[in-house]
Amino acid sequence: MSARILSPQTLARSHAPLLDFLAPRTIPSRTSPPSRQRQQLRRRRHHSTASPVGREASTQNHAPTPAQAAASSLAPPTNAATGPVSNASASTTSPPTSPRTTAPVHQLTPTQRAFLSSALRVNQTGELAAILIYAAQSPLLVRKHPHLRPLMKHMYDQEAGHYAFFNRVISKHRIRPTAMTPVWTAAASLLGWSTAFLGREAAMACTEAVETEIGTHYNEQVRVLLDWSAKCSERGESLGPELESLVAELRRIRDEELEHLDHAVENDAKEARPYEFLTEGIRAGCRGAIWVSERV
Ligand SMILES: [Fe+2]
Ligand SMILES: [Fe+2]
Repeated sequence: MSARILSPQTLARSHAPLLDFLAPRTIPSRTSPPSRQRQQLRRRRHHSTASPVGREASTQNHAPTPAQAAASSLAPPTNAATGPVSNASASTTSPPTSPRTTAPVHQLTPTQRAFLSSALRVNQTGELAAILIYAAQSPLLVRKHPHLRPLMKHMYDQEAGHYAFFNRVISKHRIRPTAMTPVWTAAASLLGWSTAFLGREAAMACTEAVETEIGTHYNEQVRVLLDWSAKCSERGESLGPELESLVAELRRIRDEELEHLDHAVENDAKEARPYEFLTEGIRAGCRGAIWVSERV
């Protein structure tokens, strides 16, 4: 009995805590129940890190997969940090697929990126021109027609919001503004001041003409993006969260432009004289400015 009590194995078991303290085991005892519990707990923790969040975190240290690279919808296929419409920030923060669908995100072709660059460049300079037109019209109009002050401020504020949005977009994607910005700045200010000088009706006719053209321009972009989205769906792809969000923003902005058009008509735009000459001339000027800004 005493021999069994004093055997090395018995001593080791009875003094295990003290021996562990003096010389910690690198290999856990196979007979130790607490050790088995720790292993079970470790296994459970391991299983918990196999959740989607854990898997996502574990993949962040690896090179991006093609799907992750494609998550940056506007990013070119190579050299994403320096491309003309690169989206480096989105490529590090966007999930590999659209959060609304599990479909892989479509990677834009060079033609599609060129279309978006041109369209967004026009949008940015167009919104700047709209701000300048209202800024030039407001003092003259409000002095003669104080009741128009809230309306002019409302439209100006919305244009300022549109301009801020497109500034953020072209800055994020490194799309250069049109080189014609100084020319359009002068032309828009002159247009706003001269139509307000002619009177309330002429100023409203100017708004009607400009908003008709810019509304058509936004409609075209929405149509093209929806066409891309439909083709993506046919291939089992998605347009990606960024472009889907852009479509929604374009629709919102287009609707606000058409609201301005309605305000202009409600405020006697069609009473301007000579109405046809004014509106057709301004619309032709807008179309020319859009055509040039897409290219220069
Ligand atoms: Fe606008
Ligand atoms: Fe507008």
